[in-house]
Amino acid sequence: MRIGIIGLGYVGLPLAVAFAEAGHEVVGVDTDGRKVAAVGNGESYVEDVPSERLSALGDRIVATTRYADLAGVEAAIIAVPTPLSPNREPDLGPLVGAGTALAGVLQRGQLVVLESTTYPGTTRERLLPLLEESGLAAGRDFNLAFSPERVDPGRTDHTMRTTPKVLGGLTPACLERATALYSEVCDHLVPVSTPEVAELSKLLENVFRSVNIAMVNELAMLCDRMDIDIWEVVDAAATKPYGFMRFDPGPGLGGHCLPVDPFYLAWKAREYDVPTEFIELAGEVNQAMPYFCADKVSRALNEHSKAVRGSTVTVLGVSYKAGVGDLRESPALKIMRLLRQRGAELVYHDEHVPELPELSLHSAPLEAALQGADVAVIVTAHPELDVDLVVASAPLVVDFRGVTRGRRAEHLVRL
Ligand SMILES: NC(=O)c1ccc[n+]([C@@H]2O[C@H](COP(=O)([O-])OP(=O)(O)OC[C@H]3O[C@@H](n4cnc5c(N)ncnc54)[C@H](O)[C@@H]3O)[C@@H](O)[C@H]2O)c1
Repeated sequence: MRIGIIGLGYVGLPLAVAFAEAGHEVVGVDTDGRKVAAVGNGESYVEDVPSERLSALGDRIVATTRYADLAGVEAAIIAVPTPLSPNREPDLGPLVGAGTALAGVLQRGQLVVLESTTYPGTTRERLLPLLEESGLAAGRDFNLAFSPERVDPGRTDHTMRTTPKVLGGLTPACLERATALYSEVCDHLVPVSTPEVAELSKLLENVFRSVNIAMVNELAMLCDRMDIDIWEVVDAAATKPYGFMRFDPGPGLGGHCLPVDPFYLAWKAREYDVPTEFIELAGEVNQAMPYFCADKVSRALNEHSKAVRGSTVTVLGVSYKAGVGDLRESPALKIMRLLRQRGAELVYHDEHVPELPELSLHSAPLEAALQGADVAVIVTAHPELDVDLVVASAPLVVDFRGVTRGRRAEHLVRL
């Protein structure tokens, strides 16, 4: 088959590679010329796709900025961003852009699948009318489906092939086409009755995580007051073999998904006069975490007779989660800005993030970063972090990820 992928980011590029590795020809369209050039040179910018894997595919993946190159594809999969506007409402600009451009080249018999996370109704109410501007009718002249992406960057135990894929078609024939397409790269398919069910299933997954993380974060703040070790509490509760699912506290949510997606649903729910209070409350608690963490660093310094102003704060790990270099919505950036506002000198170490232009900082090697630090703050614990070295070298350590749990020392403070 010849398959088009629109949007070659964290979702689209691995998808393009999966189809190409399954023996298909892939045309990848992206509006970002740098990404198109990088793919053309076999250079990957997505950590889960090593450059060797990409370059081994040769011209089985052709990247382009031109939608016209999608002529002749059997299926076009849309994986463009679905961010929030500055006032936290869905920003469907990239999706509308992609839908409009695709309508200009859409051909009879093609299948279009939306993978971007969005509120229920987007495929039918927003994408379908755009595509029908082509003069072709959905369900009759072309097929349309929604299938949410479940990629978890950095994860290796579940792959695209082994992770079940939910699919909802506009019509039974649309669903059948989408099922045939994804069976090329996924072993387990989960057909559902409508695109709306598929859209909402993805949001349920993300709201579930956001709410549970908020709940354990709230408990972490309570434990701080009560002087109880939250990590010991979570470890103990997690020994229950049924009826409990583990969630760890942390410095706040990051990435493209959890801080954003639940608000797509909250926005849509307002149309139906339903306040989504769990979503709003979870958002509030999770957004408060970086502030709580900055205060915790201030308090720890105070305990050691130091002020934030003039202290050197070494931040360990600045991406939003372990094992990846993704900075989107990273709570580390918020914590760093807050501490800088209070007069701290910032130093950071992150093997996945060589520089932070918005803070005018470069990553220092771990030993150099710890030298002269008044406090080392573990915000994101990458697997490579030498925790022993951190605890042995820094005069004060604040750990927001529980990687020092079980250890007790005067100079060690945990969330
Ligand atoms: N990153 C994840 O872990 C993840 C997981 C599950 C779902 N999702 C969802 O998948 C979607 C894509 O996320 P992502 O992380 O891959 O985003 P991304 O920003 O990494 O990639 C999106 C790409 O789309 C391109 N683009 C933007 N507008 C375009 C247009 N009109 N035409 C063609 N290309 C265009 C951008 O240049 C970018 O390269 C989002 O809806 C996101 O919520 C992401």
